[in-house]
Order: sequence, then structure tokens, then C-alpha cells
Amino acid sequence: MSVYLGIDIGTSGTKTLAMRRDGKILASATAEYPLLSPKPGWSEQDPEHWWQATIKTVRAVLKQGDIKPSDISGIGLSGQMHGSVFLDEQQQVIRPALLWNDQRTQAECIEIEKLAGGRKKLIEMVANPALTGFTAPKILWLRNHEPKNYDRCRHVLLPKDYVRLRLTGEFATEVSDASGTLLLDVRNRIWSKKLLDRLQIDKDWLPRVHESEEVSGRLNTSAAKLLGLSVGVPVVGGGGDQAASAVGNGIVKKGVISATMGTSGVVFAHSDEVQYDPAGRLHTFCHAVRGKWHMMGVVLSAGGSLQWFRNQLCQNEMAKAKKSKIDPYELITNEASEAPAGCEGLVFLPYLTGERTPHADANARGAWVGLTLRHSRAHLARAVIEGATFAMRDSLQIIQQLKVPAKEVRLSGGGARSLFWRQVQADVYGLPVAVTNSHEGPAYGVALLAAVGTGAFKTVVEACQATIQVVDATSPQPKEKKIYDALHPIYQKLYGSLKGNFAEMAKFVQDTAE
Ligand code: XUL
Repeated sequence: MSVYLGIDIGTSGTKTLAMRRDGKILASATAEYPLLSPKPGWSEQDPEHWWQATIKTVRAVLKQGDIKPSDISGIGLSGQMHGSVFLDEQQQVIRPALLWNDQRTQAECIEIEKLAGGRKKLIEMVANPALTGFTAPKILWLRNHEPKNYDRCRHVLLPKDYVRLRLTGEFATEVSDASGTLLLDVRNRIWSKKLLDRLQIDKDWLPRVHESEEVSGRLNTSAAKLLGLSVGVPVVGGGGDQAASAVGNGIVKKGVISATMGTSGVVFAHSDEVQYDPAGRLHTFCHAVRGKWHMMGVVLSAGGSLQWFRNQLCQNEMAKAKKSKIDPYELITNEASEAPAGCEGLVFLPYLTGERTPHADANARGAWVGLTLRHSRAHLARAVIEGATFAMRDSLQIIQQLKVPAKEVRLSGGGARSLFWRQVQADVYGLPVAVTNSHEGPAYGVALLAAVGTGAFKTVVEACQATIQVVDATSPQPKEKKIYDALHPIYQKLYGSLKGNFAEMAKFVQDTAE
């Protein structure tokens, strides 16, 4: 039997699954770890936790699926993107890794644009502008703020690639995750010597770059022993979590777009050419499909906004749901569905953790705007759902303006589980939305990449065709679509009106912090 392991080093935990060659999942396990925030806006993790979670989940999967070590034909790695693991000469971790949602590097982003010769030049070199979450500004932050640590640094790795180092002893990455460092020449799929020179970052600090399905190394003796696997199992490049999730959802051809509503929300489009948004609002990264690219918009608090609403305002529902063993989100979306589409003019801005696409503004804040005496809690809940979906439509709109075809939107994440939210998405996007048989996200995508890289399928497209099918589709309703077409531009203008106030509020918070 040929079995492929997909390991996803996520932000809240690591998930490992075992997939048979025909796509069937035999077992899956997750292990959580903490997120550290030693200062406001900082977000860090201890890379050792990722490694321990990898060992734990691989062992759990083998046991749960009654899988023999000799059955494992390949391993694929996925992970949270953009994080920076700084290692010294002896491959020891120097300090906790700075993560994708860390906001400390605003000054370094400005420094990078200056050193690159301006924002336009930077976008020409690496297809993207400097954003606080990306890796390059984190390297400059270390240089500017922790010079002793910087002097010790010899290697910089992304989260999943640190786990690869522990698995195989290889310093390697692959194109999709490398794109999010801001140091990859995305067009040519190699490190950008030009930008590295301008930023004075040593190219030797960076790992070798592979295509995503290529074998990057083999399981070494000590890792095999710890994981309970055989020595020599091939480990393929894998993918950043978004590209990997897209593979796992079959977004590997022109025309199909995905909308993933997890804590963050991502609108993802496959592209046969390198295309970039001259304004830098969308990310243009290499796809985990050989010779292809993708564009994506990232909403920082999409499902996260509803999670906040649940945690802060739905204590009763949470208690009730716990007692009757149902999902509290079901109670919340049922209540939300009692309010009319458009919430009688109540609009929610979902910028609870700042925003990336389209505003790239760490100071942006959440808000309900348009409250009247008529509004009930059902309106508040529905407005949160609509606001998060409007934020996704902002990204979809930029993708469409760049003439990337969008015929169907495939949904995944929490926003796809609720029938109500599926319908809101169809109505807000104005497009048919579909869900597939694949619900396992990035870990499934990289298990497929492992199957391709070790010869079970010729191409990623072939692997997706053999395993992923649409199982349900929802069409937009004309009346609701019309309401959202009218309300979305109003929603869009609100950020512009409030931007200055958000900056003042952020300054106020900073000035009055203890
Ligand atoms: C993508 C991004 C997030 C992280 C964490 O650009 O920042 O999706 O990869 O999931």
C-alpha cells in the first residue's frame, strides 16, 4: 500500500494526515501549541513546538490508521507562511520565530522600499510591496533591534522548512512559500540577487529553492527513529499553506477561484502567467504547480470577526451549544438569518487586527457603522458576516479588474460549513459558489504533492482530477445580489472616511500604554 503523509505547521497547531493513493484519508491528528505575544503587535512561536507537534501527530496518525512505516511512500510539508526562524552556525534557534501576523516591522518596510529604489521598483523585482507580515522586514528588524542576535545568524528558514531541516538535515524550501519572503524573483522562481544585494542580506543565509512537488531530501536516521518511520522516505518541497490549500481544493487551473474563510480569509486565483497588481494590493506568488503562479488577497479577520462576536457577545449560545453538543456558530448564523440582507444599512468593518488586502494598514480598526434603534443582535451578527464577506469581495474585485477569469468560487473553511454563509457568499460575490469533497486544507494538498513527486501521478493537475470533486453548488439570488451590489461601494468608502481616525486612535493607544 502507498500512503502519503501531509504535515501542516499551522499557527494554532500542527495537523498531520495520511492519504492513500486514491485520495482517501486514512487518519489525521492535530497537536496545538501556544502563540506568544510578548509586546502589543508582536506574534512569535518557539520552533521547537512545531517539531514536537510533528513527532506527536505523525506517531498518532500511524497508530490511528494502523499504518506500517514501510507503507509511507512520501511526505509533504505545508505551513504558515512568512515566519522567520533564525539559526546560528550550529543550526540552533537564536530567538523565537516572528510570525506572519506580527506587526512590528512598519519602519523596516519603509526602509526596504527606500533601499529598493521605491515601491514601484520593489514590485518589479519581487512582484509584491513590503508588508509587515513578510519575512524580509523581519530580517532587517533583527539587524536594527537585536544586533547581537543578527551577528550570530547564519540561516533564515520558513516554519515548514525548519521542520524539513529536522526531518532531513537539508536547508531547502520551495517556490510558493519562498515567494512570501519578499526575496524571491517570483517571475524567474529564484532568489532575487538584485534585492538581496540592495538589502545587504547574505544569499548563503537562504535555503535552496525547489519546485513544490520536487523531492527536497530524505528522512534521516534520527528523525526516522523519533517519528517511527523508515529512513530514506522522500520529503517533497510542499507549499505555503495557501498554495497547498489551493492544491487540496483543486485550484490548479485558470477560471476557478477559491475563498477560504478561516480566522483569516483568502481569495486565491490560479494564473498561467506572472501578473501583478501595480498598486500592490494583491500578493503575486509562485503556485505549488510547476511553472504557474497565483494571486491572492488576504483579509486578516474574516472568520476571526465572527469568532470575536461569538466569544464576546454570545456567552449564552456557547453554554447552550455545549450542553446540547451543537456548534455555537449554528445558533449564531440562525439568528443572523432573521435579519434582512443589507441589515437595513448597518455595516461592519472587519479590521479587528488591522488589514492586509486591500488597505495594508496595521492601524485599521473594526466598527459597526449605521446603528439605529431598529437594529437587533440578529442585525449585528448578520452585519459581521456580510462585512467579512465584503472584505473578501474587495480582493475578488481586484482579481477581476486584472482580467483574471472567475467563473466559479470554491469555498472552504468555517464560512463554507454554514449553508447560510455559503448563500451570503454567492450573493455578495455575484457568482456561483461550490464546495468540494476535500475539507482537509493544506495538509491534504501537500500529501497530493508528495504523491506527485514520488511518481504516483504525472502532474498536480492529474492528482487533483483523480481525487477532488465538487459536491454542492449554490447560485446567487438576484434580489440579494442587487442589495449587496448597492451596499458594497458604501462599505468600501467607509475605510477611506475613517482611515485618519484609525491612525489617531492607534497613536492614542500607544501614547497612553503603561
Ligand atoms: C498568507 C498568510 C497566512 C499565513 C497563515 O499570506 O499570511 O495565510 O500563511 O496561515
